[in-house]
Amino acid sequence: MSAPPPVVLITGASSGIGQAAALAFARRGAQVAAVARRAERLAELEGAVNALPAPHGDVLPVTADVRDPEAMRAAVAQTVERFGRLDVLVANAGVGQRGSLVDSDWDALETVLRTNIDGVLHSIRAAVPAMRRAGGGHIITISSVAFNLTSPYAAVYAASKASVSSLARSLRLELEADHIRVTDFLVGRTATEFNANRLGEGRRTGSGVPTMPAERVAEAIVKTVGTRRTTVVLRPFDRLVIWANVLAPGIMGRLARQQYR
Ligand SMILES: NC(=O)c1ccc[n+]([C@@H]2O[C@H](COP(=O)([O-])OP(=O)(O)OC[C@H]3O[C@@H](n4cnc5c(N)ncnc54)[C@H](OP(=O)(O)O)[C@@H]3O)[C@@H](O)[C@H]2O)c1
Repeated sequence: MSAPPPVVLITGASSGIGQAAALAFARRGAQVAAVARRAERLAELEGAVNALPAPHGDVLPVTADVRDPEAMRAAVAQTVERFGRLDVLVANAGVGQRGSLVDSDWDALETVLRTNIDGVLHSIRAAVPAMRRAGGGHIITISSVAFNLTSPYAAVYAASKASVSSLARSLRLELEADHIRVTDFLVGRTATEFNANRLGEGRRTGSGVPTMPAERVAEAIVKTVGTRRTTVVLRPFDRLVIWANVLAPGIMGRLARQQYR
């Protein structure tokens, strides 16, 4: 991380990867705007940051829904008002899904699409003007190894992450002249509330897939800020899954179907 410590806005900071990232940034002295819907969880995060050994950064809890563009513009405005600028966006908020593409309740599928796609777009569109005023910045998108996975019974989630990674690729070139970097994280299975909170009715065992702690993803996010990395894949296992899907999508899809159905 370059000095002075950056001002960072993290969406989905009330649990899992976002919460771990907020703590990791604050531990290094960064100022963190922590965005999510659950105010009580953000208050707990604020307490945890204040309990860190000094010196540490501050946290600004912001209760907002990433699906609401006005709320995201307000979140950025609050961040700039409190910390003076915005350097880093971690577009992390997201929800999982399980179940049939055709038979699932539309409300669940729509929530996944609106959160994982629109939410990332609203976050980026709100953050970039402030980064331009600051003379540059870094956007980190939290996608998934599922971005290119054949994913029967988690198809809408996989499609939403394909969108995130596609947006990141194009955005990187659109923002080059503004000195704003874009890094896409293709995250593998991580121990968070994500699986328990997947929307939809399907069954999912997920057996045999190695799980990593959220802190590992968080540390990698912190270390990526200021680098020119375009894509981050954390584990050899995740790399293997991504490449197996390129080379043998049908076989991988049948394996995945056994896990989800
Ligand atoms: N865990 C995994 O295995 C895994 C693997 C690959 C990728 N990922 C990705 O990692 C990201 C973080 O997930 P996680 O594993 O840390 O799961 P998590 O513990 O369930 O965290 C999800 C976060 O997103 C927030 N969120 C959800 N909907 C929101 C909305 N409409 N507005 C604002 N915030 C919202 C939640 O906060 P509130 O409910 O308080 O709003 C929560 O803080 C997601 O994008 C997920 O797709 C996770």
